Amino acid sequence: MQAFIVHRYGDPTARRIGEVPLPEPASDEVLVKVHAAGINPLDSKLAAGAYKAVLPYRTPFILGHDLAGVVERIGRGVTRFQPGDAVFARPRDGRIGTLAAFIAVNEADLARKPANLTMEQAASLPLVGLTAWQILVERAHVEAGQKVLIHAGSGGFGTIAIQLAKHLGAHVATTTGPANLALVQRLGAAVAVNYRSERFEDRLEGYDLVINTQDKATLERSIGVLKPGGQLISLSGPPDAEFAREAGLNPLLRLVVGAMSAAIRRKARRHAVRYAFHLMRASGAQLERLTPLLENGTIQPVVDRIYPFAQIAEAFAHLESGHARGKLVVRID
Ligand SMILES: NC(=O)c1ccc[n+]([C@@H]2O[C@H](COP(=O)([O-])OP(=O)(O)OC[C@H]3O[C@@H](n4cnc5c(N)ncnc54)[C@H](OP(=O)(O)O)[C@@H]3O)[C@@H](O)[C@H]2O)c1
Repeated sequence: MQAFIVHRYGDPTARRIGEVPLPEPASDEVLVKVHAAGINPLDSKLAAGAYKAVLPYRTPFILGHDLAGVVERIGRGVTRFQPGDAVFARPRDGRIGTLAAFIAVNEADLARKPANLTMEQAASLPLVGLTAWQILVERAHVEAGQKVLIHAGSGGFGTIAIQLAKHLGAHVATTTGPANLALVQRLGAAVAVNYRSERFEDRLEGYDLVINTQDKATLERSIGVLKPGGQLISLSGPPDAEFAREAGLNPLLRLVVGAMSAAIRRKARRHAVRYAFHLMRASGAQLERLTPLLENGTIQPVVDRIYPFAQIAEAFAHLESGHARGKLVVRID
């Protein structure tokens, strides 16, 4: 079958479409024929080698963390799915590779595709939907009336996080460029700050939660927006010791990782706010919690562009420009 393969870390010319054997599903796995695959900055960072210490994929490996498709065959122990079911998923770390004609996915990572969505729309959702759920619901327990700042509201993550935060009853602020202010307001942001002409910390104060997706300077400036007791959660680093423990890193790496966030944790403590890094994880059960919200239109996917598989290099160039509007999806035919 055809797949998009990373042959060497850190070399964009060493990622290309090639032939690989069809995967054989283990007893708890489902073989899925992939119809569409969403792409994420995580794919680019992985291929660049940025996650080697935490996610040590051995080259060559197939890229891709999001899929929508149809069950082709099931392992002996699979109980929840049948051939012919339409599904979507973010396969667990270590078992990624959705940019391919087929992939074997653990049953626990899969959910039925929301009935109202196209394959391309469904493929845009798992990674960012799970991230938004894990931060807003599981980690920060966002409640009605709380104030939440989501940086980069027009990106793949932000477009879904704004809608989920709004659904939870939060007052949502976001940052984006001038061309996307109307989009983020339509998605539910009460305050949209143009990062090119305004400083968000001049307009916002007393926030309960800030979700950072940007650089170190944005992360540090975000502290001033929070009220005492507020939470600063970063998706773009630096990682912290709790994350290193959960990731099962060895004691030396844990020390190194802990030191990476020492400065921001110190600054956060001085302002009586808490800092945490979050790395999302696969969960079919959480996708099923999102499905009713997708099927009743509370959360609507935002797909910027759909690329044919043969144009996957263009899709990654668009992603890596840092200016996608919602998600980029690759159609696997
Ligand atoms: N740790 C995790 O589990 C996890 C999960 C999901 C995402 N992430 C990380 O979160 C980050 C965002 O992911 P994504 O998928 O949303 O990326 P994305 O879709 O590539 O984000 C693109 C968007 O960012 C906006 N943007 C660019 N520079 C900005 C700035 N300085 N301030 C505010 N907005 C800005 C752009 O708006 P304009 O075009 O108007 O500039 C564009 O719409 C990435 O670093 C990703 O790796 C991590």
